[in-house]
Parts: sequence; C-alpha cells; structure tokens
Amino acid sequence: MKFNMHSRGSIAIGLKVNALVEPMGIDTREPMLSWHMSNCARGAEQYAYRVQVATSIIALRHSEPDMWDTDMIREPSQCVKYAGAPLQSATRYYWRIRVWDHRGVSSAWSDPVMFETAMFDEDEWHAKWIRMPADMRAKNPTTVPVFRKELLMVRRARWAAMYISGLGYQEVYINGVKVGESLLDPCNGNHDKTIYYTTYDVSDAFRAGRNCITGMVGQGWESGEPAFIMKLHIIYSNDSEEIFSTDETWDCRPSHIISSSIYQGEEADRRIEDNEWYQPVLHISEEWEKAETVEVPGRLVARTQPAIECIETIAPKLITQPQPGLWLFDFGQNIAGRCKLRVDCQGGTKLLMKHSELLNYDGTICTDNLRTAAATDTYTCRGHGVEEWEPRFTYHGFRYVQIENFEGTPTQRTLTAQVIHTRLEPKGYFSCSDPLLNKIYANSIWGYRDNYHSIPTDCPQRDERMGWLADAHIAADMAMHNFDMEAPFSKYLDDIAETMNADGALPDTVPTYHGTQPGDIMWTIAYHIIAWDLYRHTGHVHILEKHYDKLRLHVMSLITRYDNYNLPECKYGDWIALEKTPKDFINHCALLQMVNLQKKISSAVKNEGDVAFFSEWSETIGKNINSLHYNINRCMYANGSELSYALPIMLNIVPEGDYVRLEKNFIRQINRVREGHLSTGFVGTKPLFESLMKIGELDLALSMVTDVNYPSWGYQVAMGASTIWELWNYATGNDMNSHNHPAQGFIASWLMQTIGGIRLDEETAGWEHFTIKPHLWGNLTNAESIVETAKGRVSCKWEMLDKCYPDKKLRGMNITVQIPIGSTASVYIPKYGRRRPEIKLDGKRAYRSGRVMASQKDIISGCDSGNYVCLELTNGTYEFEVI
Ligand code: BGC
Repeated sequence: MKFNMHSRGSIAIGLKVNALVEPMGIDTREPMLSWHMSNCARGAEQYAYRVQVATSIIALRHSEPDMWDTDMIREPSQCVKYAGAPLQSATRYYWRIRVWDHRGVSSAWSDPVMFETAMFDEDEWHAKWIRMPADMRAKNPTTVPVFRKELLMVRRARWAAMYISGLGYQEVYINGVKVGESLLDPCNGNHDKTIYYTTYDVSDAFRAGRNCITGMVGQGWESGEPAFIMKLHIIYSNDSEEIFSTDETWDCRPSHIISSSIYQGEEADRRIEDNEWYQPVLHISEEWEKAETVEVPGRLVARTQPAIECIETIAPKLITQPQPGLWLFDFGQNIAGRCKLRVDCQGGTKLLMKHSELLNYDGTICTDNLRTAAATDTYTCRGHGVEEWEPRFTYHGFRYVQIENFEGTPTQRTLTAQVIHTRLEPKGYFSCSDPLLNKIYANSIWGYRDNYHSIPTDCPQRDERMGWLADAHIAADMAMHNFDMEAPFSKYLDDIAETMNADGALPDTVPTYHGTQPGDIMWTIAYHIIAWDLYRHTGHVHILEKHYDKLRLHVMSLITRYDNYNLPECKYGDWIALEKTPKDFINHCALLQMVNLQKKISSAVKNEGDVAFFSEWSETIGKNINSLHYNINRCMYANGSELSYALPIMLNIVPEGDYVRLEKNFIRQINRVREGHLSTGFVGTKPLFESLMKIGELDLALSMVTDVNYPSWGYQVAMGASTIWELWNYATGNDMNSHNHPAQGFIASWLMQTIGGIRLDEETAGWEHFTIKPHLWGNLTNAESIVETAKGRVSCKWEMLDKCYPDKKLRGMNITVQIPIGSTASVYIPKYGRRRPEIKLDGKRAYRSGRVMASQKDIISGCDSGNYVCLELTNGTYEFEVI
C-alpha cells in the first residue's frame, strides 16, 4: 500500500486517557490512550495510527515528542497502553494522534489534549492527616471542623496542583473561593483500604503575597472522626518549587455547620461564620487551636472517575401552603441533590427544609418511607439582607421540600433544587411516537443518574443509599448503553475486587455496610456481569485481564462449595417478586450464569485451559439443574413461576426436544395464570424480559411493560412516577418502598434494543459487529435510538411514511442507520406486511426478490429472514426506504 500524507478522510476524535477526557491527576504509570474515528465515507477503515506524547504542545507541533512516538502502527486497534519514557509524578503531558485509512490516506493530527499525573507513590505526599483537637471535639461532638492556613507566596505560580482528600466529605477554599466543581468529595469507596483523592489545577487561584487556604470536613460515609489531608505543589514563574501541606501547624475551629449527616441532613448557623476563616488576617481570634494529626489506615489513590457535581438546577414547578406556617415546593421530578436557599429573614430565624418523595393526602410531605433518615436541612439566618445557603455535606432523594418557620411568601427563587450526582457523560438516546414509552425511558435515566454517587447505589432517599451488588448489575447494561461508564465501572470493579476475602468470597454490598460475606450469589455475580458487560461495550480486554485472577477465584470459591453441597445461602431469592420462585433453583441458576460468564471471560483472555474447565462445570451444573428442578412430564422448571421458565431459557439449558412445549407453557403461565402481567421481582424481571426477547415474544413483553394496571412500568407512570420504584405497588409506609430504585430501569436499554433495534452482539466485543433489528410495535409510527459506542455513533431511526406502496395498501417506511468505522452490522429491515419488499438505498433500488443489486457495493450481502430483510453492511450512514 502507498501512503499518502495528505490530510483527508476520517480523523481520530474522542481522545481519552484511562477512559477520561483530559484527566487531572492520574496515578497509573502506563495509562491507556483511546480514541475513535469520526464517521466518514462508507467502508472506511482505520488501517494504522501514530501517537505522539510530549511535555509541551510546542514539542508536538514541531513533531518533536519528548516522551513517546509510536511511529506508524499498522493496526485497527483504537486503544494503546502508554509505553514511552517513564512518566513523572505531578507533570502535565500532551498527546495527539493521526490515523491512516484503508486507502493509505493519512488524517490530520488531532488537536493535542492533555493529561496530568498526580503522585505515583504515597510517600510523595509529605502531608499529614489532621483533625479537630480532642478537647475541641469533646465540646463540639457533631460540628464540622474548619481548618485554616495562610501562605506567603513570593511570586506568582506558573503551575500549581492541589491534592485533596478527607475522611468524610470535604471542601477546600482558596481566599474564599471554592476549589473545583466537585461536591461530596472524596469519592466513596472502601475507606479502610483505599481513600480517593482529587487533583485540582490551582495555577491561577493564588495571588502573590498572603493567601488563605480553608478546609472543611463533614461526616460523609465515615463512621469515625472527620479528617483532612491536602498537598499543594507549586512551581513559580522562576521555576523554583514549593510544597505546602497539612500538618500540626494548621489552625482549627468549629465551623457554623453544627452537624452534617448524609441521612439526617445538615444544620448550619450562619451567625457563626466569619470572614477570617477564608481571608488572610493580621491576628486570628482565640477560637482557633492547632489541629491534631492522626494516622489513617487507607491508602491514598487518585480518583479515577468523574466527580460528583451539581448537574443542573431546577426551579419549583408549584409552591403551595398546605398548612399555615408550612410552604411546600414541588420540583416536578424526583431527584438526588439538595436545595439552594435564598432568603431575607431576621437574624436568628431557624428555617427547616424537609425533603420527601411523596405527599400526604393533605398536601404536606410524607416521609414515612425514609425510615430513620430525617432528610432535614436547618438554617439559622445571619440577618441583615439577602443571604444564600446550600448544605455542603449531605444530599437527599426528593421531589418535594417543605419549609417551616418561613415568614412571608416565598418566590420561585426562595428554593431551587440542585441535581447532584456523579457527572456521567450521556451517550444514549431513545424516543418513539408513544409518550408512555418515552416517559418510562426518561424515568429510568433519571433514576440511574440520581443513584450514581461515586458508586451505583440502591436508592437516594432513605437510610440506605448503598452499593447493593444486585442493584448494580441489573441496571449495568442499561447504564453502558446510556452513559460513558468505562471509568466509573472500572473503578467500581476495583472496589468490588478489594472487598474479596482470601477465599474468594464477596459481600452483598460494596463498600460493605450491610449483608453477609459470602453474599447471595445473585448479588455477588455483579463482579462477573459488570466486568463482562464493560468488556463487551468497550472491547478493552485489559479490563478482564486485570481482574481475571479474582474473577476466577470468586467463581472457584462457589464451585468448591457447590461440590460440597454448601453454596452460600440464597437470602433474598427473587426479592419483592409477586410470585415466589424456589430459592435453591435461583441459586443454582445464578451459579451457572456466573460459570458461563467465566467461560466467556477465559476465552476473551485466551485461557483455553480454563475455557475447557469451565465448560465442563457449565455442563455439570446445567445437567444438575435439569435433574433437580425440571419436571419432564409437565415440561416446566421449579414451581412453574414466570422466572422458573425465564432462567432456563436465558441460560440455554432446556432439553432440545422440549423447547417448543416449554415456551408454550411459559406463555400460558404469563397469559392465563398471571393474566398477561409480570410477577417477577428484583433479580427475576430482567431474565424475564431477556427470555421473552430471545423467543421473539416482543408484543407480549411490550404489553407487560406498558400496561397501566399494576404491576408494570406503565402503572408507575400512571401513578405519577418520575423515576423507577423499588416495589411494583404504590406503597408509602415505613418500609422498603423507595420511589427511586434504579434497578428495574434496565428496561430503558431493553427498549433501545427492541423498538430502537440496536443490539450489541454476544460474540464480539467493542461493537465490532452488532445487529440492528427494530421491532415495529402496535401503532408506533417512528422511533429513534442512538448509542455513542466505543467505535463511534450507532443509530437507528425508523418512521412510517404517509405514502402507501405498492397498490396503496401498505405504508412506506424509512429507516436510517449509522455504523461507525471499525464496525459491521447485520441490519434487519422490517418487511412491514410485504411478502417481497423492494428496498431503496439513496433513492436507488438496492434489494428486491431476495437479491442485492449488483450496483450496491456497500452492501456485503442480503437475504430474506422471516418478517425482515437482513443486509450485512460495513460502516457508514445508510438511508433505506421500504416500498
Ligand atoms: C435494597 C435493595 C437490595 C436489598 C437486598 C434493600 O434494602 O434497597 O435494593 O438489593 O436490600 O435485598
């Protein structure tokens, strides 16, 4: 091939380092660099790439990269591990890439993007953990401490980075200005082992002369005393360097935050706050004492995922006064976050803000389902004019807020809701002509966002908000369809791996606050499901390689116990199901699912010995399930519940000759016994819908989704839901009845796969090959689904046309698909009632009577396939018309 250096064609875009855009503060010596190609001409490919890394943009521009130059690598791969000169701590690097396409045409260089390293070794910190001195703490047992230190800077900084962490949520201010956008930092994890820190670029935050750094630490997820650590690394304009860090010379005093708790809320008395906390002063007052240093067990590790931030602000939709002295704000959406208060009240006025998801009949808030969480923020006004306040170290799950003790009439600006969660980058979209389906999709997305607080949580409102592993894996694939989850889930896989004990047992919750270890298999299977799904979505085998030994150890720990008739207890069964399914059966199916995943993972990392080993175990466990739980005469599993059919279908263990009869029994169970409703619970509903997709019963499944009668997602919408619930019924009591539980929101990606038609292949990873097969359901007239995949945009948009063909009986249809460079797809075009449809591409005949027209070079092959015409396509954008 001849190489042409002219810059035309596709370019590399979406450059990431460790799956993050321009990350500040990575601590891996060999980061992964990745990119994808801009969508371009049909059939284009990435034939080769060249990466350059340098310590300055100028070096890159002069093509003199001082760190790494790969030269031309003839590979289609879109991810490479850094292998240049050793990276240094606390250094900014820049990189760029150019690619060559299938014709040997080189792209332009991408714009340079940066990444900055933090500290590779913990002993580079040179900082001490500090906390409130013991005597002060004894007098102020719940108060948030404020730490303060002045610095004299002889000249301006050329570059400055601040590394911050806390045991408990912390915030830091430089001369009164908050450092960074992140909230509720540090990111949650297994604090006794790993404490994440955040790196900020503070190069422009200081002035020459005296400066004041202020730190505050609330309770967060820590049960112990709040502690704080910070290191500031400065390079001055004359290239001299200086380090400032926390130690016993810092001053400390109780802040105006009298208490702060994730569940209970925050109480602040603004009369206490003083300017001297934030600004340099000549003499500080006597309330300050020197901070105490403390040893902390966890290892400091750089945060490896996006921060928690305020994502959007919502104004109240309705303000009412259900009772004298009570004002009720309805934000119209169940969110995770808190409120910003803007008032002009007399000094000493104590305002109470109580949060809830639900209302009582009299229009006041109903907090019964929060259990012991008070979810109340209290603010005592300073007086003298308008004051704004927002709690710092708590968040709530709510749609309604009730203010008490407010004098006068509130306005739209009195309270605004701040939506706060991990900044997940959106990458999915679904919409169709049915508003109910759109609302179900939107509720799922809201629920997922609300529940990502450094880790996937079960709910954002009651006294729980934990990393229950089943909740994490049930919605994992839907999350990967709709958000860029590579960094967040890579971090969560690390968190899970860290909790594994020496025998390979995993707990039910990560970080572990509840449950047992070993946990329920349907919960601990999260490790395998998330690792496998992440690999399928990204194609990044290093994720599996990194976790391989621990994944194997976990499944082996269960196989050994299985062999000894001692599997961990199936504690939760099909939690919250309306129709019970025997726990023993669920447990064995969960183990089989995990063994099957381990087999696939072994194959992906090319461990053939393990593939054979786990194939044998898969067969053994499958046979045992059939001999223990299969009733041959009645052609049914376990107790014949919906889940009893769904699991074996999903796991492919139904005896060959029985399939047709078993499917019939399954459908009969749904239609006759359950009257067309789902009856499954927490872990059973996803297998139910997966098995219905597998056997092609999509119309039935969709009627179960959209039924506005209990139980279904449609019922939730009919009852006014703006998120997905924990229970199928509308419950309000003091029990397990969260109205914002993201797990059953898995249905969002099920809709993208069925009506939207975009289906990731089981056999290939990273969207190398996928299927587009939209299901035209009921009276739908259009639908659109988009996934920004690891290879680029995949989309499918279909719409019925007003024109009718042929003989004016059947409506025509347009279908447009996008296939990114590096992918091929099997595109199933609905015949929509026609026996022999004609398909046009770009207005020209492309397929007719089972044949692809010879002139259509971009269509690899095509054939009739039941109600569809299946075309094999290479990348590109294709607009088809079915006539
Ligand atoms: C959580 C669930 C979780 C369960 C265990 C609940 O309290 O909210 O989502 O998976 O406990 O069954």
